[in-house]
Amino acid sequence: MTRLGVNIDHVATLRQARGVKYPDPITAAALVEMAGADGIVVHLREDRRHIQDRDVHILSETVKTKLNLEMAATPEMVKIALEAEPHMVTLVPEKRRELTTEGGLNVVGNKGALEKTIAQLKDSGIVVSLFIDPNSKQIEASKEVGANFVELHTGHYCDATTKDEEDKEYKNLLDAVGIAFDLDLGINAGHGLNYFNVRRVAEINEIEELSIGHSIVARGVLVGLDRAVRDMIELIK
Ligand code: PXP
Repeated sequence: MTRLGVNIDHVATLRQARGVKYPDPITAAALVEMAGADGIVVHLREDRRHIQDRDVHILSETVKTKLNLEMAATPEMVKIALEAEPHMVTLVPEKRRELTTEGGLNVVGNKGALEKTIAQLKDSGIVVSLFIDPNSKQIEASKEVGANFVELHTGHYCDATTKDEEDKEYKNLLDAVGIAFDLDLGINAGHGLNYFNVRRVAEINEIEELSIGHSIVARGVLVGLDRAVRDMIELIK
């Protein structure tokens, strides 16, 4: 069965919007696990716009399932990962001005540096995944640099605006899954998945885990709002 890793970055986004202590992603992670998720995913960005170093360190102690740390392949992040020792590191490209991770990692163009970073992480027992576009060259290069897993970027499939385009991107994803599977790479997928587009991706048996964040946190706000308002009315009555 496809596993679910829940990305809780946007719980931290809400906290950072006010610079207060809540909502705490640590509490969110515990609730996510109690609801049955298979793993917790956080992206420690260079600009620290949502998840903070403190979150990563505490989560590495408190997560009972598996912690997947998304990060750029920089010396600063590698140092943090080696200290926190998450179960998995997913290396992602990072641009300061982007709203969210835009494209996959260019593994083909950065083989030397990635090989070194991956070896460092693997040497301390961390499973390494590379977030890449569903592209044969990037998948082959991921194998060559020693990655254990690839996380296939589902953004193009999710952003498709017509059925034809969606079918084309889905076929592309299926082809990529086939290539990665033949190379004996573990396969995760994610980005942009929501309650309307997830089914077809979840049907792909070779995909081990889906990494989903924004849509789940967004739904959490709406399904939780009724109770939150009732709790406040009760207090001020
Ligand atoms: N996978 C990676 C590598 C990501 O960077 C993100 C976004 O943080 C996700 C999955 C989750 O994407 P979304 O928030 O759109 O579900």
